Amino acid sequence: MSTSIPGSTRLQFDTVVARLRAAGCVFAEDEARLLVADAATPAVLAAMVDRRAAGVPLEHILGWAEFCGLRIAVDPGVFVPRRRTEFLVQQAAALSKQSMGARSTPAGGPVVVDMCCGSGAVGVAVATAVGRSELHAADIDPAAVSCADRNLKTVGGRVYQGDLYAALPDSLRGRVDILVANAPYVPTEEIGMMPPEARLFEPAVALDGGSDGLDLQRRVAAGAPGWLAPDGRLLIETSDRQALGTVDIFRRAGLGARLVSSDEWSATVVVGSQKI
Ligand SMILES: C[S@@+](CC[C@H](N)C(=O)[O-])C[C@H]1O[C@@H](n2cnc3c(N)ncnc32)[C@H](O)[C@@H]1O
Repeated sequence: MSTSIPGSTRLQFDTVVARLRAAGCVFAEDEARLLVADAATPAVLAAMVDRRAAGVPLEHILGWAEFCGLRIAVDPGVFVPRRRTEFLVQQAAALSKQSMGARSTPAGGPVVVDMCCGSGAVGVAVATAVGRSELHAADIDPAAVSCADRNLKTVGGRVYQGDLYAALPDSLRGRVDILVANAPYVPTEEIGMMPPEARLFEPAVALDGGSDGLDLQRRVAAGAPGWLAPDGRLLIETSDRQALGTVDIFRRAGLGARLVSSDEWSATVVVGSQKI
């Protein structure tokens, strides 16, 4: 609420809110509060508001996103972690905690791999929730890898660049307790219908899941048995509409599959295991 803003910046705040509202920002007050707090000078603030009004994602302007209560660095051109993906983190963290004690790693916790990591938000949030883990992350996009590298350093994780499993060190084969992926799952033909913030400011490689949206999920699931520990788990975020397709993909890859969803987060995750 604008009443919490000190008097000296109140006028500035109200002006920013009005400008953001006019540009169609739904959460204009929340965004204005963040922009006013972040800008070092009125000129910087004006430039930030101009960019936001032009449709640049707030997180790309601030350089960070709030995710699972953490501040995750998000560079321009890197996928902005979505709030619904916090449900994937919850599921992965709960299973990671279950697997603690069952296996012993140099880090003293589960081996976690964040595949298609983008900024690394998912892996960092799982590692933070679990406390102790051996965290690895991979992405094909150099911009994402560079951003994830900064985020994973805060939890002692390692990031690799390459096409899915080709990026990972061989030493992880058969050792992964938790393999978590929010891979692109938008069908190619639907990219054009996405909000401009995604369509114009996030790269196609972060969104495009092929003709039915499930191409990347197919490849992630097919490769998982070679990397998972015997009692390891694969977790992939999907949509309600695509969920049965994702379950089918897990089964075809020889994995047991369980669907979990949350109304609170509007989120759906398929959890797979080698034990059917
Ligand atoms: C939907 S974004 C999700 C990013 C992150 N997991 C998150 O939830 O914020 C998908 C990510 O997959 C990466 N990606 C797409 N194809 C890939 C591939 N063949 N191998 C590795 N990463 C890939 C993209 O670069 C992008 O960063």
